Amino acid sequence: MNQFKAFRIHNDAQGYHSGVETLQTEQLMAGEVLLECRFSSVNYKDALAGTGQGKVVRHFPITGGIDAAGDVVESSDPRFQPGDPVLATGYGLGVSHDGGYGRYLRLPADWLVPLPPGLGPFMAMALGTAGFTAGLALQRMEQNGQTPEMGPVLVTGASGGVGSIAIALLARNGYEVVAVSGKEDQRQRLMEMGASQVIDRNQLPLSQRPLDKACWGGLIDSLGGDILAGLLPQIQPWGTVASIGMAAGMGLSSSVMPFILRGIGLLGIDSVECPMALRQHVWQRLSEQLDRPLLEQLVTRVIPLEDLPGAFEELLAGQARGRILVETS
Ligand SMILES: NC(=O)c1ccc[n+]([C@@H]2O[C@H](COP(=O)([O-])OP(=O)(O)OC[C@H]3O[C@@H](n4cnc5c(N)ncnc54)[C@H](OP(=O)(O)O)[C@@H]3O)[C@@H](O)[C@H]2O)c1
Repeated sequence: MNQFKAFRIHNDAQGYHSGVETLQTEQLMAGEVLLECRFSSVNYKDALAGTGQGKVVRHFPITGGIDAAGDVVESSDPRFQPGDPVLATGYGLGVSHDGGYGRYLRLPADWLVPLPPGLGPFMAMALGTAGFTAGLALQRMEQNGQTPEMGPVLVTGASGGVGSIAIALLARNGYEVVAVSGKEDQRQRLMEMGASQVIDRNQLPLSQRPLDKACWGGLIDSLGGDILAGLLPQIQPWGTVASIGMAAGMGLSSSVMPFILRGIGLLGIDSVECPMALRQHVWQRLSEQLDRPLLEQLVTRVIPLEDLPGAFEELLAGQARGRILVETS
């Protein structure tokens, strides 16, 4: 019997509440693999889950955390042996199945990705869902024909987790990257990540017309709403837009002109249910391409489980700067 701490989320007679509790490994949900989680991270979705905003949690009580990285302790699945370093992101983690905000968790073997060589649990979680999503976006944009020759790629929500890693990855692959951020104090950091230019989000020209001067080769968008709609008319013919998030709005009001007169592709990026073969390929690519010192620089702090509520508030207020890691023990 192992006793450990976990950040639990409840929705019961006392309402929606969350906090650090003591659990026994016997209380863990079912799964073929018992994992000792070394690190997790804080994503926007974790903030929604931990605070009850957005109604993303589908099972109560639950251990939060959509990301986990650590070592296999025991496994009834022949693909995994005790001591194997693994990571898991998405699927039901932290929303319908216990997630990474606890030292131990049991997971279905089908959800586990062996850690690529050279990527320890700390670096894996410096990337986490945010990094994986950025990698998936670029992978799918390139499958759709995106190349550096098509012109600069715009990245919105640039100071956040997805945005920051998207900048680094695009730059590493030879793209000119223009970052859009609401934070003046992040300009220098975004340039160091690989942006050639940073545009103030409040000064970003948004088109009202169906088609406008095409100035961007492509777009990785974490914001949605009017910002995404106002940028579609500015994408070069045959460029691709990766729609990732909705930090600025869920709606999308656009004409079909950019699609039918310029052949623009609007790709939805779903990190949660991404098929395993593509998932492993993207993790391998991230491991090979991302510069370790740059990633370390991206981690603003490593927090204990007790500090999660403060981190959630920060993300929900749009104040995220890079990545926050969670040490689970
Ligand atoms: N599709 C998927 O599978 C998937 C996976 C991961 C994340 N997401 C979504 O992608 C988005 C970004 O995730 P993340 O983890 O990078 O979040 P994050 O670290 O909190 O970053 C979001 C960034 O968006 C900007 N922002 C926040 N609130 C805003 C607002 N009200 N209006 C305009 N800009 C705002 C801020 O950047 P600036 O100040 O620099 O502009 C902020 O740092 C979230 O909506 C998240 O749910 C989706």
